[in-house]
Amino acid sequence: MAFFSCLTAYFLGSIPNGLWLGKLIWHVDLREHGSHNIGATNAWRTLGKGPGLLIFLLDFFKGALSVWVACAMAGTPLVMVLAGVFAILGHSCSIFLKFKGGKGVATGLGVIVMLMPLTALFVFLVWLVLVKWSGYVSLASIAAAALVPILAGVGGYPFEYIAFGAVAACFVIVRHHANIHRLLNGTESKIKAGHH
Ligand code: G3P
Repeated sequence: MAFFSCLTAYFLGSIPNGLWLGKLIWHVDLREHGSHNIGATNAWRTLGKGPGLLIFLLDFFKGALSVWVACAMAGTPLVMVLAGVFAILGHSCSIFLKFKGGKGVATGLGVIVMLMPLTALFVFLVWLVLVKWSGYVSLASIAAAALVPILAGVGGYPFEYIAFGAVAACFVIVRHHANIHRLLNGTESKIKAGHH
């Protein structure tokens, strides 16, 4: 059961919504624009608010559905956590993109909504405030990711969930290495509401 739920999560996570819908609907390859990322932020930046929100929801759904399937198949914290890990891995190392992909933020949020809803809500609110305040989605994502294991610990969640939070946070932060470099040298681009 663990094997099948991890496999399902990996395939679900691998679906590159931003890339495929960008090409299909808007005839735009996100990898050739903005940050070159296939995630919701670059979809918002390149295609606009609506497409950005749509990609966010679809990528979020991949994470949530993966954990839901694992819950239905096995229901143990460890199998649900493993499904979450494989969903994020699928998103970032997609089978459809020669093991390349996004940064795992929206998919990761979908995972933690299922595992730790209160932590997810709080982290999302912090992320929103930081995006509004700084204009840098990457900065908000890095800070929000770092908060997950801390809040999971404070919230008294099972050890597996706290460990997941720590591993996922490290992964998401490493995936932002180019953003961190740009933030430090002042070349990171800010997000603008409704920008096309
Ligand atoms: O979720 C990814 C976000 O934190 C940064 O996206 O396109 O600015 O690299 P981007």
